[in-house]
Formats: sequence, C-alpha cells, structure tokens
Amino acid sequence: MAEHVMATVDTPGGDTGSKQLVYRDEALEIERVCIDTIARTVPTPFYCYSSDAIRTAYLTLSAALKPVGASVCFAVKANANLSVLGLLADLGSGMDIVSGGELERALVAGVPGSKIIFSGVGKKRSEIARALEVGIHQINVESEAELDAVIDVAGALGVRAPVALRVNPDVDAGTHAKISTGKKEDKFGIAVQDIPALYTKAFAAPELDPVGLAVHIGSQILDLSPYRAAYSRIADLVRLLRSQGLPIRRLDLGGGIGIRYDHGTSADVGEYAMIVRETVRNLDCELTVEPGRWLVGPAGVLVTEVLYVKKTADRLTVIVDAGMNDLMRPAIYGAVHPVLPLKQDRQGNSHTYQIAGPVCESSDIFGTYRDLPPLRSGDRLAFGCAGAYGASMASTYNGRDLAAEVLVDGDRFRVIRRRQTTEALLALEDETEWQVSSHSPTDLRHAC
Ligand code: LLP
Repeated sequence: MAEHVMATVDTPGGDTGSKQLVYRDEALEIERVCIDTIARTVPTPFYCYSSDAIRTAYLTLSAALKPVGASVCFAVKANANLSVLGLLADLGSGMDIVSGGELERALVAGVPGSKIIFSGVGKKRSEIARALEVGIHQINVESEAELDAVIDVAGALGVRAPVALRVNPDVDAGTHAKISTGKKEDKFGIAVQDIPALYTKAFAAPELDPVGLAVHIGSQILDLSPYRAAYSRIADLVRLLRSQGLPIRRLDLGGGIGIRYDHGTSADVGEYAMIVRETVRNLDCELTVEPGRWLVGPAGVLVTEVLYVKKTADRLTVIVDAGMNDLMRPAIYGAVHPVLPLKQDRQGNSHTYQIAGPVCESSDIFGTYRDLPPLRSGDRLAFGCAGAYGASMASTYNGRDLAAEVLVDGDRFRVIRRRQTTEALLALEDETEWQVSSHSPTDLRHAC
C-alpha cells in the first residue's frame, strides 16, 4: 500500500521517483511549475512545496486509518507554515502542537481548539491557560509536576481540563538517538509503573477530566515493529487501569512514521494500520495519530544556487547559498537529502561533488553526491524531502535571513512566507539610552 517515493541520490537528473517532481524538457518541475521559473522571481534559497503531494499523503494515510477508526492530528512542528496547516485543515486534519506559538498558528489556520492536542514535555502555565481558554481537545501531560500545574491553572480558570498521560513505554524505536523518545532514559513521558497512581490522582481531581493515554516513541521509524511493542504495552496498561475502575476513552498513538530519504518506498501505512488494529483497536477507545514527516516531508524541496566550485587536492566542493541554518538536518542528524539539479545535463556527464553551505561551521556540509552534472556558479539545485523539519527548524545564524516558502498547486505558485529581511530582525533590537551610555567605547576601555 501507499507508495511514498522521493528523488534518489544516485540518479540526479534521471527519474526523480516522485509523482510531483518531474523533468520536462530537461527542466525540473514541481507539479506543473518549472522550479527555475520560480527562482527567477524568488531569490534562493527558498523552500517549495507541492500541494498535491501533501493532499495525496493525507488522503492516503486517512484512508489507511479509516478502517481502524483513527483520526489524524498533524504534528505542526514538522511544517508550521500557515498555508500548509490550512491545506491540511481543509482536508479535515486536526493538529498536534507543542507550544503556545504553534497553538496560535493552528488557530489562525482555522483549526478549532477542539481539534488540537497539546503535547510537549514542558508547557508554561500561560500556555496551559491559553489552551484551556480555546477549548483544547486534550493536554498530554508528561510528569506529576506538570499535572499539578494543569490542576492549578484549570482551578484558577474554573474549567475542567481534558488530560491524557503520556506513557514512556521503554521501547527502542530503532531510530537516530537524537529523535528517540520512548526509552526509559529519554526525557519524555511517564514510566509505565507510575501511570496507575498518577491516573488515580487525575481521576480524583475535580479540575481534571482524565481522557486516556498518549504515547510517542520517536521519529523517522521505518521498521514498524517497535510500534507493535509500544502499543501492546499501552493496551496492557489500559486493561490494568480499567480493572482498577479508571475510565479510559482515548488513545493518542503519536507520530513517527518514517520516509525514505535515499530511494525506495517509505514506511507502509497499511502495515501501520494493521499494527493499530492488532494491538489497540479492540479497546473501544477513540484513536488519534500525530504524524508530521510522513505527510509533508516528501512534498518539499529546498532550492539553492551554486555560488562557487572550489577545487582542493582531493575533491571538488560546491558551495551553495543554502546553509545549515536553512536545513539543519544534515548537520544535526547526519541526514542526507537527495539532490536534484534544476537542469539535466544533455551529455549525461557525471561528477562527484561535496556540497557545502556558506555558514562558518565545519558541519555545514550537505554530503558528497555522485553522478551530478558538471556544476558552475549560478546553476541551481534542489534538496529533496525537505518539506518536514526544514523551514520549521531554520535559524538566522550567521546573520542569514529566514528563507522564503513557496506553495505550488497545479500550474500556479505563490509565496506563502516572504523571506525574512535583516531589517525586520534589526527592528527587534532596540538600543536604549542606558545601553549606549554604559557601553560607550570609553567605558569599555576602562573595563579592560
Ligand atoms: N508527536 C510528538 C509528541 C512528537 O514529539 C513528534 C515529533 C511527532 C508527533 C511527529 O513525529 P513525526 O511523525 O514527524 O516523525 N527534527 C527531527 C524530528 C524531531 C521529531 C520530534 N517529535 C528531524 O528532522 O528528523
């Protein structure tokens, strides 16, 4: 089921493997828009997403989950752009958020509080209050201290807070250590053995409406068997709590379904649905999943321009105008995103290049790519599978503007976030009178 394919590293200029990313007359198009045409009006680097790819992924996933009755809450952290959220909301998606900022984004995108789940390991009281004010569907609580904070805030507001307890099932998701969340040594969730006492406490608190349990074991999970282990543990826990007279009506099964960054098919959501069916379906609970990457990852590219080709003794390095501040994944997780030249090489010549960004850090390297056409300054490239955790993780490090984001739909495109300018950033920094006087050059000289 559900082929979810993206460009390959080994065949740049060849078959991109993606329905929405195709070469026509040797030029790379996303849906029916030539990416070079966009780059003539939008300065690189910029992100570009296919509406069709997002829609298709959402519809594929929700169709796979329909027989098991699970609904989808998109993990906003993967791509928080309002237009992307709006597109998913129009399809019926709820949202999974982890901060007050993401909450406001989801609300502005038109998602009602009743379709928003508040996850995250450290929620501020002000964020909890705002979530309760907008009628949040559920707050996933990650510790007893946080439960106490929700009791306080709900009490002060005179409302009952719908809470789920996030369980740490102590299951290894088999993914990168930095995106594993379900082992006992990870900071997330509440240990299985502590859940009964805490759920009993929640049940006894008039300020709380304990609705059930939540679990999220990690991200970029390609071998789905850890889900079976985690969900089986949750099912046992539900039976135990119910045997103690504690009602459980909802299960939030988390996100994490992986995609292939190299080639081949992504995790099979039909197989995932089968695991849900075999582990938790018969518990008679409302089920929700919180995918991020699977829905939007393959739908996006980061478009960049070659600044220089630098020859050293042992290699050719292509310095591009996108850096680790724009796409952090290679630097943080050693991720390799596929590279597609915007123009194919007629002769089919191929070269091996290291591709590096301009940021002053040795880790600002995208990888070494074989089979690229000869590259020159001014040529443009697209990094594939950049729709998730790309723009949403970008920073302004090295004084670099946040890249623009563009959405394509059929033969149309529009800028859905303008490039953030240096002027806009500078406007946040107000040099007040006392700073000017106490840090005058004279003072500094005395200090030294
Ligand atoms: N639910 C919770 C509670 C989460 O913490 C996450 C992701 C998700 C859902 C969505 O997971 P997904 O379906 O996207 O795998 N920056 C990393 C990924 C961090 C994921 C954090 N939590 C990366 O670029 O690979």
